[in-house]
Amino acid sequence: MEPVTLTTERLVLRPPTSDDADAIERACQDPEIPRWTTVPSPYTRKDAEDFIRLIGEWWDDGSEHVWSMFRDGVLVGSIGLHNIETHHTGHSAELGFWVAADARGHGYVTEAAKAVIDWGFAERGLVRIRWQAVVGNLPSARAARALGFRYEGEQRQALTGPRGRDDGWIAGLLSTDDRTPVEWPVL
Ligand SMILES: CC(C)(COP(=O)(O)OP(=O)(O)OC[C@H]1O[C@@H](n2cnc3c(N)ncnc32)[C@H](O)[C@@H]1OP(=O)(O)O)[C@@H](O)C(=O)NCCC(=O)NCCS
Repeated sequence: MEPVTLTTERLVLRPPTSDDADAIERACQDPEIPRWTTVPSPYTRKDAEDFIRLIGEWWDDGSEHVWSMFRDGVLVGSIGLHNIETHHTGHSAELGFWVAADARGHGYVTEAAKAVIDWGFAERGLVRIRWQAVVGNLPSARAARALGFRYEGEQRQALTGPRGRDDGWIAGLLSTDDRTPVEWPVL
């Protein structure tokens, strides 16, 4: 499918191009990103170039939808709907994101994710979006709770990545959910 650009109050979300490789490479030097995600470490220029190429392929075949987030033309993060599972009752996907260290704490991820979730439910036929994080990732959990995700539990040793295997928190959001934030027992 054709890549989609989403615009929010402060951000433009669009797939990255080769011109964005420097900014992605720079942002992914922050150890907090590989600590909590499957982003490789050390992170090289080739990793950024491969990521950009794959994002283009994923848009083409509709298997994943990843956007870079820009504020005033500056790349501030990455967000995506991953692992789309198709079903005749409606599809499901996983929300993933990172924000560059110097751009954190401004609410960018919640602003971007709201637009991505709206698009996923309204335009991509999703009925459920999953959020998963390594146990202890409080900033990510707070962002998910703020978006209306409901905490669904802890999955022991369920998350794998270059860093190894970790216990995971899981939460879900349905297209029919009221998105008013609810209490999470772990926050
Ligand atoms: C998770 C991440 C994207 C949050 O980015 P951010 O720009 O700080 O997010 P926001 O400003 O939108 O804040 C989202 C929530 O996190 C909270 N938060 C932000 N930094 C925090 C911190 N260091 N400790 C605790 N809570 C924090 C905010 O208060 C907000 O919660 P609230 O709405 O309940 O007040 C960012 O920390 C990051 O990129 N981390 C590394 C990669 C990662 O963990 N990705 C997610 C994998 S599941």
